[in-house]
Amino acid sequence: RAKRPAGAPDRKLARPVGKIGVVGAGLMASQLALLFARQLKVPVVMTDIDQARVDKGVGYVHAEVDKLLAKKRISPDAANRTKSLVTGSVSKEAFADADFVIEAVFEELNVKKQVFKEVEAIVSPECILATNTSSLSVTAMAEDLEHPERLVGFHFFNPVAVMPLLEIVRVPATDDAVLATAFELAKGLKKSAVLVKDAAAFVVNRILLRLMGEVTAAFDEGTPAEVADNALRPMGLPMTPFTLGAMVGLPVAQHVQESLHTAFGERFTVSQNLQKLIDNGVKSIWASSNGAAEKGADGKPFI
Ligand code: 3HC
Repeated sequence: RAKRPAGAPDRKLARPVGKIGVVGAGLMASQLALLFARQLKVPVVMTDIDQARVDKGVGYVHAEVDKLLAKKRISPDAANRTKSLVTGSVSKEAFADADFVIEAVFEELNVKKQVFKEVEAIVSPECILATNTSSLSVTAMAEDLEHPERLVGFHFFNPVAVMPLLEIVRVPATDDAVLATAFELAKGLKKSAVLVKDAAAFVVNRILLRLMGEVTAAFDEGTPAEVADNALRPMGLPMTPFTLGAMVGLPVAQHVQESLHTAFGERFTVSQNLQKLIDNGVKSIWASSNGAAEKGADGKPFI
């Protein structure tokens, strides 16, 4: 019999989840919708602020399923089923019959709180609410909830389809049945779930950001981006810090840096040049193969 993960309540407490809501239809949200529909085989509805965003999110899911089909990683039946399970809406009313709603919206505490306020007005009192926040306090998100016992942190890593880890966060109020359901969902998603403390950026992002912080610090001091970024290659990391930053989105990386700096002070530095990289578009760093890596899209040096 599989060992229960440390801190996971008795699985008998877990509730069935027949429908999932995802707030947001951006890259992370769309990856989550695909994973839930594919692995759990339940209807998943994504919402966003306008139809164009919703269509883009659903379009992403369809395109990814087509890629899996072309690689023969999914059967034609499973592909059709997965596509039909994922729908989109501009209204959170679509969550009325959901059992589990996860938000993957902008990394701003007040935005997340507002989202949960709107969702709580629609869903049943038993519906579980989850946040995929990278670095914000889950406890703070519970503060204004009508039912804080239903909140859990459910933090995935990019690319969601392939990264095996899931950080689960309980807040003081989180109900055991809610936590047990979160662990059962993780199992259904074939992720390795670990229960982590509700600390800024939890565990993994803190470690990643120490690396990122030193690379950006070297860059700030004048070491060319390419040199600083490639310095860790001999360590066998699957991606260099800036490539990783570009994949998760540099603004996300910057938010995490700022959250960590606020929580832990000088242990985590915030790079001013990271903002320049964002402004210039990080891809421009690697666009040049003639060694002018430290120049932005406008041709001006970053430093
Ligand atoms: N979406 C879906 N699948 C993807 C993918 C994506 N974006 N990127 C890669 N894959 C799949 C590929 O299709 C391939 O699958 P296949 O074997 O079925 O064909 C498989 O992953 C391996 O891909 P590749 O062979 O092309 O490339 P690599 O061997 O280099 O692996 C990687 C790619 C798994 C992304 C690897 O580079 C890696 O592990 N990178 C580090 C990722 C990481 O550290 N993520 C954490 C970021 S932090 C975070 O997300 C937290 C947030 O809060 C900010």
